[in-house]
Amino acid sequence: MTQDQRRTRISRRRFLANGAALGAALGPAQVARAAVSGPEGAAAGMLPMPAMRDALPPRPSIEDPGRSLMDSGWRFHLGDIPMPEIRGHGWSYNSAKAGQAQGAAAMQYDDSDWPEVELPHDWAMAMPIEETANVSQGYRRRGFGWYRRALRLDPQDRGRYLEIQFGGIATNATIWFNGSVVAHNWSGYTSVYVDITDLARYGDDLNTIVVRVDAQSMEGWWYEGAGLYRHVWLVKRDATYIATDGIHADPRRGPGGAWTVPVTATLGNIGTRSAAVTIEATLIDPDGRMVATHTAAGTVPSLEPMDVALTLPVATPGLWSVDRPTLYTLRTRLIRAGRTVDERTLRIGFRTVRFDAATGFHLNDQPLKIKGTCNHQDHAGVGVAVPDALWEWRLRRLKDLGCNAIRFSHNAIATEVLDACDRMGFLVMSENRNFNTSPDYIAQLQWLVRRDRNRPSVILWSVFNEEPMQGTPAGYEMVRRMSRVVKALDESRPVTAAMNSGMFAPVNVSQAVDLVGFNYQRDQYDRFHGANPTLPMISSEDTSSFMTRGAWQTDRAAHVMASYDEEPADWGSTHRASWKSIAERPFVGGSFVWTGFDYHGEPSPFEWPSVSSYFGIMDLCGFPKMAYYLHRAQWIDDTPLLDLMPHWNWPGREGQPVKVIALTNVDTVRLLLNGTVIGEQAVDRYTMPHWQIPYAPGRLEAIGYRGGREVARSAVETTGPAVALRITPDRRAMAADGEDVQPFTIDAIDAQGRHVPTANLPVAFAATGGTIIGLGNGDPTSHEAEQGDRRDLFNGLAQVIVRAGRDARPLSLTVTSAGLRSATTTVRLLATPPRPSVPSTAATLMLQDWRQSPAFAAKPSPDIVLADNDMNSWLFVRAGEIQPAQGAGPWSVLRAKVTPRRPVRERGGKLVLQGVVGRGEVWIDGKRVGTKAGFAPGTVVVPMPAGEGERVVSVLLEGNGTQASGLGGIVFVEE
Ligand code: GAL
Repeated sequence: MTQDQRRTRISRRRFLANGAALGAALGPAQVARAAVSGPEGAAAGMLPMPAMRDALPPRPSIEDPGRSLMDSGWRFHLGDIPMPEIRGHGWSYNSAKAGQAQGAAAMQYDDSDWPEVELPHDWAMAMPIEETANVSQGYRRRGFGWYRRALRLDPQDRGRYLEIQFGGIATNATIWFNGSVVAHNWSGYTSVYVDITDLARYGDDLNTIVVRVDAQSMEGWWYEGAGLYRHVWLVKRDATYIATDGIHADPRRGPGGAWTVPVTATLGNIGTRSAAVTIEATLIDPDGRMVATHTAAGTVPSLEPMDVALTLPVATPGLWSVDRPTLYTLRTRLIRAGRTVDERTLRIGFRTVRFDAATGFHLNDQPLKIKGTCNHQDHAGVGVAVPDALWEWRLRRLKDLGCNAIRFSHNAIATEVLDACDRMGFLVMSENRNFNTSPDYIAQLQWLVRRDRNRPSVILWSVFNEEPMQGTPAGYEMVRRMSRVVKALDESRPVTAAMNSGMFAPVNVSQAVDLVGFNYQRDQYDRFHGANPTLPMISSEDTSSFMTRGAWQTDRAAHVMASYDEEPADWGSTHRASWKSIAERPFVGGSFVWTGFDYHGEPSPFEWPSVSSYFGIMDLCGFPKMAYYLHRAQWIDDTPLLDLMPHWNWPGREGQPVKVIALTNVDTVRLLLNGTVIGEQAVDRYTMPHWQIPYAPGRLEAIGYRGGREVARSAVETTGPAVALRITPDRRAMAADGEDVQPFTIDAIDAQGRHVPTANLPVAFAATGGTIIGLGNGDPTSHEAEQGDRRDLFNGLAQVIVRAGRDARPLSLTVTSAGLRSATTTVRLLATPPRPSVPSTAATLMLQDWRQSPAFAAKPSPDIVLADNDMNSWLFVRAGEIQPAQGAGPWSVLRAKVTPRRPVRERGGKLVLQGVVGRGEVWIDGKRVGTKAGFAPGTVVVPMPAGEGERVVSVLLEGNGTQASGLGGIVFVEE
C-alpha cells in the first residue's frame, strides 16, 4: 500500500470514528454518505484550493459530561466604564464588603442598553483600521470592554460543585461573580477556572457574572484580539468530584518495552465530611474493546484536594503517529456509595518521543524530520474568535501540505485545537507566553503543563521565545526554575526555549534546557553543534520570507511582494534555503517555518497601509501561496506532485521573459508552451526547476516524470475576462447545530469556466439558513471591513465564512458583482442537536440585600431614619432568609435602595416581593404604594413609578406574635 493509500484509509477511519459520535444524531445513512477528499490540483484554470468535501467536521471530543457551553446570553459594552468615585461613610463601608462590587461590576448595574453577543467574540475585528493605532496589532485599537451575563441555577444544583471556565480572554481580565471579585487573569492565553459554589444563588434568585477586559494591555507584537474569544463553560459536579484538568494519564513505555498508563485523579470534596470513594479507570481501544480496567480507593477530606493513583498495564498498544494517530479512550469514573458521581473521558495515545543530539527527532524510535509551521491563532474575518470547525479546516490545510508539526507561537492555544491535533496527527511545540518566574506567571506555566500533559500531540514545552535575557546568568536561572516547574508536573517531555541570540555566552539558557531551539541563526547551526555535540537542537523558527498571494512582481511602493520566494527578511532566509539547511543536517530535529498562515498585524516588511503579515505559506484566508506548493513538494514524498506557477495572464508582456517555476517531487519536468517543448530539467527539490520563458498567451504545461514515466501534469492557461462568479464550498453538508462553520471560496471565471487569477472585483454576499461571520481575501493591504456583506476579490479570490443555523433546511449563499453572472450555492444542514448549553437568562433587577430595623411595639414611621454611618443598630438581611427583628414588639421596617433599569425608569414597572410574611405596607420614596392584609406568606406586587435616580423602598411589617415577619422570598423589579 502506498503512503497515500494509507493516508486515505486513515482519514476514512478517522472520519468514521468521529462520525460515530455524530452518527447517533445524523442516522447511519447520512454518516455513510460522507466522503473523503478528492485529489487536489492546480491544473489549468482550476481553483487553487482542495476539491469540495462532504464530511462533517468532527465535534470536539466530549470529555466531561458535567460541562455545558455558556457561549450565549452575554451582554457586551465596548469601552471602559470607570468605577464611581465612592464618597461618604455608608457607601464606603458597604462597597468594601463581599458581594458589594460597584459600578458596572455591581449585580444591580443597568446593562439594558448593552447588545447581546455570541461567543467566541473578538470585538477588535469590528474596530476601524487607523493609522495612529499600533502596527503590531494590525492598526486596530483594542481598548477595554465589559461583559455581563445573568445565570439561573436550578434549585437542584444546591450542594453541587459549580465552576465557570473561561477558555481564554484577551487580554487582562477581572471577573466578578455576584458582586465579588473571583479572578484576575493576567494573560490572554490562559484559561480561567472559577469555583462559584459558595457564592451561587438558586432558582429565581439570579446570579450575575461580570468580566472587565483590558485589551489595551498587550502580550505580543502580533494581533491579539479582544474579549471572550474562546468558549465559556458552566460545570456542575457532585459534591465529590474530579478536579478540572485533574486526570493525569500519560502512557509510559517501560525499559522492557511493556506499556502502562499511570492514572492519577485529583479529587475534590465540598462536603462537610470526608468522602470514601473509588476511582475506576478503563482503557478502551479504537475499536471500542476494553483493554484494561482497574480501581483504587481513597478518602477525600472535606475541602482538601487529594490524589488517587493506579496503573493500567497495556501489553502492545497500537501506536500514535503523525500518519496514524491512533487514539485510545481512557474513561475515569469516580464512584461513591456505589454510584458514579463524576466521570472524565480522555483520548490518549501511545508514542515515544526522543531528541538525539546526532540524529534529531525520533517518534516511536523512528527518525522523523519535523516539518513544522509556527502559527498565530487568528483568521480572516473572525480574528482570534476562530470557531472549532474553522480550526479543523485550518489544520486540514496544514496536513494537506505535509506539515507534521505546529508551534502555536508564542502562547497556549485553545484546548479544542489540541483535541484536533491529537486526532489529526500533529506534533505540537507548546509554548509558554510570559517569561517570568514570579508566582502569578509560574501558575500560568503550571496550568499549561497540567492541562496538556496527557496529549500525544504535545512533544515539547517551550518556556519562551526570543528573550533578551537568554545569554545572561539571570536568563539561565529563570529557565532552570521554569524547567523544574515543568518537570515536577511532567518529566517525560523535553523543555526547550526558542533562542535567537546568546547561545555562545558563557552562561546562557541553552545550558538549562533539554533541547535548544534556534530561531533563525542558520549560519550558527554547525558552530553550535560542534561546540555542544551532546545537546539536541531544533529550528524552533526559520524562514520569514515575504510573499503576497497571487502576486508575481514585487512593487514595494504598492506593498506587494512577489511569490517567487526570493525576498526574505534580513534575519530570515527563503523557504528553499531554510529547508535545505535543516534537511541536510540530521542533528537539527526539524523546522518550524514562520508561518503557516498569514496573521493580522506585524505586516513586515511594511507598515501602514499594510495591516497583516506577508510571511505565511498560506494567506490570511488559508489560500495557498507558492510556498504551499513548494513545501508540499518538499515534504510529501510518494504521491507525485507538480504545480506550475505563475498564472499565464500577462497581457502587454508578450515576448518578455516571465519566470516560471515548477513545484514538484518528481525526477524530471518537461515544459511545453502551446504544445511545443521549450525546456526540460532534472528536479532539485531544494531549488525547484525554473525557467525564464518569453510570454506568449495560451497554454503552458509541465509534465513530470519518474523513472522516465509520466506521473503528473500541471498547466496554466491564459484566460478570457471574468464573466461570472463561482462559489466553492468546502463541504456540501453542515451540522444544523448553530456552531458549525465553513469557509466558502469565491472566485471569478471566464466564459470557459476557468478561474481568472487576476480578477479584483467588488462582490456582495447574502446568506440564508446561516450567518456570515467573516470575510477575507488575503490582501495584506486591504482596509475593507472583515465583517459585513461585501468584499473585493483579491488576485482572483475571496472567502466568506458562514455559520450554520439551527434549522435543518438548506443553507444558501448568493454572490453578486455588477456585470458578472451571479452564483448561488446550497449546502444541506443536517439535523444535529446542539451541544448541551446554558440557556440565556433575561437580566432581572434583584433586590436581595436589605437592612432590618429593631422591633417596635407601635407602628413606626416608614421613613424612620437609619444614619448613614450606623452599621449596627439595623440587621443586614437577605430577602428569602427571614431573621427575627431584635427587641420586643410586632413591628419592624425593612429598607433597601435601588436604581431601576432603563425601561422601568422610562415607563415604570412593578416591584414584586414574594413570600412576604406579616401584615404591612410598602413605601417607595416616602409614598405608600401597596399594602398586605394577612399575616400568612404572600406575594405583594406594587407599582414602581417611572423616573430617574435611586429609590428608597421601605417595607413596614407587623408580625402576629407567633411567627417572625420578613421577606421570605425574592424581591425583584419587573420591567
Ligand atoms: C521572530 C519572532 C516572531 C516574528 C518573526 C517575524 O523574531 O519570534 O514572533 O516576529 O520574528 O520574522
